[in-house]
Formats: sequence, C-alpha cells, structure tokens
Amino acid sequence: MPIEFTIQPPDHYAGVNEPVKRPREFTCFSYDRERRFHLGDRSLKWFYPAYIPSDLSRGYQNWQRHDDSIDEHLDGLLAAIADYEKQTGKPIDAHVTTWRGMMTKIMATPYDQEEWEMNATFYRGCIFIEENHAFARRKKMMESSRPARSDGISPNLMQYWGYKFETLSTIPRPWGEVSRDEIESRDDEIVNNMEQYCSVVRTGFGNTIVCLGGEVDAIWDAKPETPGEPINWVELKTSRMITNTGIQTAFDQKLLKYWIQSFLLGVPRIIVGFRDQDGILRSMEEYETLNIPYEVRRRGLAKWDGNVCIRFAALFLQWLRLNITEEGVWRIRRPFRGSRIELTKIEQVGHGAIITEEFMNWRIKL
Ligand code: A3P
Ligand code: MG
Ligand code: MG
Repeated sequence: MPIEFTIQPPDHYAGVNEPVKRPREFTCFSYDRERRFHLGDRSLKWFYPAYIPSDLSRGYQNWQRHDDSIDEHLDGLLAAIADYEKQTGKPIDAHVTTWRGMMTKIMATPYDQEEWEMNATFYRGCIFIEENHAFARRKKMMESSRPARSDGISPNLMQYWGYKFETLSTIPRPWGEVSRDEIESRDDEIVNNMEQYCSVVRTGFGNTIVCLGGEVDAIWDAKPETPGEPINWVELKTSRMITNTGIQTAFDQKLLKYWIQSFLLGVPRIIVGFRDQDGILRSMEEYETLNIPYEVRRRGLAKWDGNVCIRFAALFLQWLRLNITEEGVWRIRRPFRGSRIELTKIEQVGHGAIITEEFMNWRIKL
C-alpha cells in the first residue's frame, strides 16, 4: 500500500509566503555535441538576438538529435557534485538532490493535471530523486505518435522549432569575440540538442535545502566575478503568436511553467520567440522572470499564484523527508488528474541505479 500526500485545492496553499533562498550556482558542467560529459562551462552560449523573420524549419533534416532512449539517471549531476566535494573536502548540505525538471513537475502540481513518476533513494542524509525514465518514455511516445496537424506539421518538427530558435539566438563566445560572419551564418549551423550547459545550484523551500541541476540556454553578458552572485542567464522559448484572447490565456497558463523553470535556477530573463503557424519567427519579447506572476495576474486570464507553488513544494518536500529516511528505492507517482501523490517502496535495499558507483566510492572516502 502506498503512503499518500493529498494535493489540496490551490487556495489551501495561498496566503503563506514560505521563506525561499535565492538559488546560487556552486558548480556547472557541460555535454558536448557528442553528449560527452565535461566539468566546466565549455558548452555555455551567449545570447545574441535572432534575425526576424527566420524559418524555424530550416535544416530539420540535418538535426543531430539527442537520443533520449538512454536513461542518464542523475549521472552528470552526481559527477559535478563529487568534483565540487573533492575541492571543498566536505559533502554538500542538501536534503534533496534532483534535476530541475523534477522540481518543476512538483511545483506545478497544484495547477496541473499531468501524471508523472519518479524514483527516490536516501543516501547519507540526502534524498536523491530521478525521473522514472521508462514511464516518461512511454508517455513521450504516446504524445509524439499523435497525428500530425492537418497541414502535415508533426510534433517532431514543432519540437525542432524550439531548438532551432536556440541556435539562431546564441553565439559560442561573447559578443566582442565573434566575427560578423559567425553571427550571420547561424542559420546554416546544424542544430544539435545533445550539447548543453548545466548549472548546479543550492536553493531552498521552507527548511529544506535543495540541490538542483538544470540546463541554461544562454548568458546575457558574463558570469560575475564573485561566486554566488546572481547570473544574467537567459531562457529561450518559442510560442505561437498571440492573435486573440484564447491564445493569450493559453500563453499565460504556459507562463506558469516558464516562470517555475526559470525561478528554480535563478534565471532572471526569458526571451520568447513568437512564430506563426508555419514556423516562421515573427517577433520576440523579453520577460522578467520575477514580474511574470504580476503580469499574469494583471491580465486576469489565467489563474495561478507562484506562492502557492512554492508553499506546495515546501510542504511536499517536508513530507518526503519524513517518509524517506533509509536505504531502498521509492516510487513517487502522481496519477493523471490525481488528487494524491503516492509513495511506494519498490526496493528494500540499496539505491537502485539512482546513485552511481563513482559517487558512492567517492563518498566513502569522505
Ligand atoms: P520551446 O520551449 O521553445 O518549444 P527548453 O525551453 O526547456 O530549453 O527546451 C527547449 C526545447 O525542447 C523546447 O523549445 C521544445 O522544443 C523541447 N522541449 C522541451 N521540453 C519538452 C517537452 N516536455 N516535450 C516536448 N518538447 C520539449
Ligand atoms: Mg534549453
Ligand atoms: Mg529554452
């Protein structure tokens, strides 16, 4: 029998402003264009606006696509954490360690119907949470096998538009260090979504310290000299041009996800590329992450409150910490439209594949 955490209606979580920490990056890592792992920031990109108009479908047939059939668990994140611990000589102090994507799902839960599954284990004072990869893959397959739009545009092509926009909006070095030619030839660059820069931050919800790893699309200028200072990250998104109130309402709902995703890593600015139905980039808009909740409330079309998400996450993590206190593997499951999150112990000993041998071997030395 699972243990259950009840998801109350949003109002239940309103009115309490949970203390939150500002996320601070303490290390980072990169995947290169072959998806090889590297410590450090070699895959960091700088923001440089795309040209308007641009055809986001261009080069689709050459897309070097990340193979997401491979379960990467928390491997990259743990390698970066172990390296940081080797430098400082002590373990990080997080109560929960996971990918930003998992925390996004948790935070959106009060306003979302989405089903999700995660695996968790407890190791040396910290709960490590990964996505249940097999479940996520099944779900994705179902979604991408949906019929193409009546005009023949497939979900895969629409996904490509997002990565193409990132390629068109970034340069591999700061503004002063790239040639005009490099900037102008971005449209010919082969889109590759294996390459990623990942930021690793320490943040918190209520009294739970959380370590998150997640991809950052670009930087505006340069990392500050002092570690821990806010970084001018840029999140890039594409969305359909807003031509009526219905689309505006849907967009304001989507802003909840944008806001959560960027809030979690301390990304201050989101650049949205608006495209038409044929995937032609028509305009761009800048959003200040911290202003988004006010903006959405002012328009009054979508009803969500960021503080509800924060409060919900704080309570849920606290509950998780009361229930996951020993070795073994737990399944955390939110059924479709479910009003409960279920927690079931699925393995009695060990840590499944959540924690790598390398990480354990390192921690034993500490
Ligand atoms: P858009 O968000 O512009 O559509 P991210 O914005 O998180 O950096 O992701 C980059 C792109 O990856 C997205 O571009 C989208 O194409 C694709 N993507 C991200 N999350 C996805 C999901 N849950 N399902 C399908 N595609 C996704
Ligand atoms: Mg991205
Ligand atoms: Mg993006």
